[in-house]
Amino acid sequence: MIAFEKIVSSERATDLLKKVKELDDAYFIDRSKYIPNPCLDGTPNKYLSMSDDAMPKEIYDELYSWFEGQEVEQILVNRYYPGMHLGPHIDSNLYEYVTVVFLDSELDVLNLESPDGWVTVTDEPGKAVTITRDVVHSVSPVPVMRHSIIVIRDQL
Ligand SMILES: [Fe+2]
Repeated sequence: MIAFEKIVSSERATDLLKKVKELDDAYFIDRSKYIPNPCLDGTPNKYLSMSDDAMPKEIYDELYSWFEGQEVEQILVNRYYPGMHLGPHIDSNLYEYVTVVFLDSELDVLNLESPDGWVTVTDEPGKAVTITRDVVHSVSPVPVMRHSIIVIRDQL
């Protein structure tokens, strides 16, 4: 399953992005070393992620307000520096659904394998795509610093 929706206004997503961009790398872990999310061919991935137990309360509260009334297992913020990428993979966690909420604009880096072939989704603040955990996906090397929100859950 691949499903698109608008989660929050562009303004709210862009406001959050400003706050997230100011955070030091110390809030994030290097996923090439910790809790790796390996590519199907075994090549290492390269990105950073901040878990919800590590994020400032202001950001935690804002993100969880986007999913009020829904059962969410975890919300992560991924950070990619230019050149960082994730090869084709399925997520290493065992939850049924993952939702990516975009914060940036006009980046064509998230690729999803659909029954009709690979599709590339363009980042747009507040837009989201939800996939089931069987959907192979990748992130092409990013041209500029990029952040995205990852929401993990067992039911929609
Ligand atoms: Fe993933």
